Formats: sequence, structure tokens, C-alpha cells
Amino acid sequence: MTAAIIDGKAFAATVREKVAAQVATLKADHGVTPGLAVVLVGEDPASEVYVRNKGKQTVEVGMNSYEHKMDADTTEEALLAVIDKLNNDPAVHGILVQLPLPDHLNEDLVIGAIAPEKDADGFHISNVGLLGTSQKAMVPCTPLGCLMMLRDHHGSLSGLNAVVVGRSNIVGKPMANLLLRDSCTVTIAHSRTKDIEAVCRQADIVVTAVGRPQMVTGDWIKPGAIVIDVGINRIPAPEKGEGKMRLVGDVDFASAAEVAGAITPVPGGVGPMTIACLLANTLTACCRANGLAEPEGLTA
Ligand code: GUN
Repeated sequence: MTAAIIDGKAFAATVREKVAAQVATLKADHGVTPGLAVVLVGEDPASEVYVRNKGKQTVEVGMNSYEHKMDADTTEEALLAVIDKLNNDPAVHGILVQLPLPDHLNEDLVIGAIAPEKDADGFHISNVGLLGTSQKAMVPCTPLGCLMMLRDHHGSLSGLNAVVVGRSNIVGKPMANLLLRDSCTVTIAHSRTKDIEAVCRQADIVVTAVGRPQMVTGDWIKPGAIVIDVGINRIPAPEKGEGKMRLVGDVDFASAAEVAGAITPVPGGVGPMTIACLLANTLTACCRANGLAEPEGLTA
């Protein structure tokens, strides 16, 4: 069998179109424009690229984008003061503090200072608890994107066996909670899991988020399973020339695609969904702040 390719780039474009349409309606019917504030501390080049892309896509869907760039030696006090200002600014519905932060800043403390209802990343401990108890939460963007792709591909996920490989706070754990909420039977596998290959072979859905290039091979996959690869790993690509690199996922795409029913490629799979879901979350936060109905098809 050759797997269907789940095209995250195209799917993310449809999510952005839906967001843009609902933003236009919000503006026209209620005079409200959703606003997303991104705080970047320091000059990490990868973070600067992310933040630029976020700002560009925010404006493209008709939202207001606010950027706060702060020096690498910013004090915790100064950063907390900016967050406090954004928490109290009615034009700001979503706040994102770009991670990683410089070492002298306590990430838990900083994320904990964001008003939970404006926590566009869904990283605040209140949102973690709300998701874990199936209440209305802000949901982390990457797992939300994976869930949207799974529902779009398969419809109801009820009763399916799902294995999440990786137990990070940002992807693995929230992904497992979302799948559980959609009535999957969920296993979280990780570096200490015994016979992880056999565990994965039981799965109708495999989501990988471990940061280990091409770890999951076709013989780990049950025939017909849906494979969602969150990993983005850079490996040497001598075939492209000396010193060149290429991106691969946590899944060995070639062998897994021979067995799976559907699979996300890297690049062009989950990656583009993260910012699309950040925009969806900002819209959701704006609707909630204004007592309006949740946006259609853009929430968990
Ligand atoms: N750094 C890399 N990805 C992300 C993300 O999704 N959110 C935040 N806050 N920081 C990141």
C-alpha cells in the first residue's frame, strides 16, 4: 500500500482562509479586530524568523499584530511589566512569548504571568489543567493542528488506538489529552518504553514528537494507520553537495509511506499548521473576550 499524503501546507492555507473570513465578519458585525502580541527577547536568528512569519500571517488574515522586541539582557521585572501591560490592553486578545528565553529568565514564571484567556500558545498552567479536565481551554497550537488534520482525514476518531511518541509539555502531553477527549484509546510512548515498536504497531494513529531523525520506520506501523510526524530534524545531505543539510521528521518517510494509510511529510506536513492554529487561537480568544460564539471548525 502507498499512503495518502496529508498536505499540511494546503490545509494550513484553508485554516487561514477560514480565520480570515471569520475575522472579516467580526469586524463587519461587531467592530472588533483580533490582536496578537508577540514578545521576543534577544536575537536568536531562528526565533526572529518565526516571529517575522507570525507577524506577516497575522496581518494577512486581517488581525492586528503587535511586536515587542526586547534586549537579550532584559530583566525579568521588565519582561513581566510588558506582559502585564498586554494583559490589560483590550486591543490584545492573544499573547505569545517566543521561546526559548535567555537563560537568566524563568520560563515557567513568565508564561505563568500571561492572562490565561490571552495565552495563545496554551502553555499556561491553567490552560494545561483545563485541557486535562476537558474544559474550555486555550490549546497548544501544534497538537491542535495535528488534531484538525486527523479529523479532516478520518472524521470521528472515537474508539481508535492512538500512540503518541514523546512526552513533552508542548506536544506529547497535550496531544494525548486531545486524542483522549476525542475518545481515542491513548498510549504515550517515550525513551523508556519497552518494545516501543510493538506498541506503535497497535496504533491506528501514530503521532511522533521526539526530535530523533527517522526513528520510526515502516515496520513500526500497522498497515493502514495514520501517521502524523511532528519532528523537524536537520541532517546532512551529501547528495545535495558538501556541507548541505535537509529536513526530515521523526518518521522514516519512505518506509512508513509503504505501510501507512496516510502520512504527513516533513517539510510540508504539521509545520505550517502551527502558525495557522496560532491565528485560530487568537480568533477564539477574541470571540470569547467579546462573549461571541466560538469560531466554526477552528477549535478543539
Ligand atoms: N518557539 C518555537 N516554537 C514556538 C511556539 O510555538 N511558541 C512559542 N512561544 N515559542 C516557540
